[in-house]
Amino acid sequence: MKNILLGITGGIAAYKTPHLVRLFKKAGYEVRIIATKNALKLVSEHSLATVSGHPVRIDTFGNSGHGVDHIDIARWADVLVIAPATANIMAKASCGIADDMLSTVFLAVSCPVVMAPGMNDIMWQSSSVQANLAVLKSRGIMFIGPEPGELACNTSGMGRMSEPETIVQFVQNFPTRIEKLRGKRVLITAGATREYFDPARFWSNPSSGRMGNELARFAADSGAHVTICHGFMEVKPASLCEAIHAPDAASMYLEVSKRFRDFDVVVMAAAVSDWTFPNTAELKSKKDALPQELQLQMVRTKDILASISAENTDDGPIIIGFAAETASGNDLVTLARKKLERKGCDMIIANDITPGKSAFGNDNNHVIIVNSDGRPPSDFEGPKSTIVRDIWERICEYFD
Ligand SMILES: Cc1cc2nc3c(=O)[nH]c(=O)nc-3n(C[C@H](O)[C@H](O)[C@H](O)COP(=O)(O)O)c2cc1C
Repeated sequence: MKNILLGITGGIAAYKTPHLVRLFKKAGYEVRIIATKNALKLVSEHSLATVSGHPVRIDTFGNSGHGVDHIDIARWADVLVIAPATANIMAKASCGIADDMLSTVFLAVSCPVVMAPGMNDIMWQSSSVQANLAVLKSRGIMFIGPEPGELACNTSGMGRMSEPETIVQFVQNFPTRIEKLRGKRVLITAGATREYFDPARFWSNPSSGRMGNELARFAADSGAHVTICHGFMEVKPASLCEAIHAPDAASMYLEVSKRFRDFDVVVMAAAVSDWTFPNTAELKSKKDALPQELQLQMVRTKDILASISAENTDDGPIIIGFAAETASGNDLVTLARKKLERKGCDMIIANDITPGKSAFGNDNNHVIIVNSDGRPPSDFEGPKSTIVRDIWERICEYFD
């Protein structure tokens, strides 16, 4: 991937685009620019033409002087990046309006499209923008940002365009997407289940859902069809994924066991409670009505990983489990191997949750992977968003 078609619309962050172009070029990409007329009120055509080394396309008519330029440039592009993406371009793109060069090219490209929205926080939250966002996501448009922070309108909130460095990094990750994941059907469980004692109290664990969510995001970005079955998560389910909410262990069991055969890969990253309450009180139990020392009676939940692994067939999915252990090094490998045997799955990804080192809720993680086919264990350390690639590479070895 080397040809970047940069669409610039009339958001205040347009002033950052000469820097964005320079970063893309520094990273080795060829850049051509389409700017809307409103964008050029916020950034100069001359600056953009100078940094890109090419004229800026503005009008649908009269760019190349021959042929059909909007089709030619659409064919040239390996990726269309629209940064900043205004509320206006999102609306036009979501309903197919093609009344200027950029919106016309948007319809004519067959390459991936990334939008980096930037706008006032209230505009971003507006139901129209959110509805357009949902439509565009459902059609495979990728979004980077917006992010929370200071906004040009003397306020702060969600709406700031991601920094040019972040946008370049996002695009650079494209080639590292894993081809073998394209078209694969992937089910990922994520987050923490909550077992309710009464409507106001529950038993749970500190899982944030980040690891499963990053695995889902990577697979979806690589072209897999991803379903994320999640309990409580501190993060929103990754875009492009179908999300199914399974708040407690019993519903997670039902959702996973009824559908796991429809997938090529099942990754069980959710932290599912091992125990639940035999009955949940319908009304909140009053403190005064409870004894001074409360003894809770709990029962074991169904072991989802062991149960689907036992039911799996040779033509069924590759099944991967996670293990959270208070151990490291060889001890962690030994515990992971034992879990692998006990559960009968294909792979266990183990991490150390010793206090102080715990991966729970952190952006970083250190994982050890053991496989049922006896390969030597491998270990990866780093931000959850990057080690997911290593994990997917190991999983994709099953597709060789
Ligand atoms: C100074 C200024 C800053 C603006 N910034 C934004 C912005 O950050 N995001 C946005 O969606 N619209 C912004 N607008 C409004 C858009 O420019 C306006 O909706 C315009 O029609 C967008 O046209 P375009 O999408 O064809 O470029 C801004 C307008 C002005 C005058």
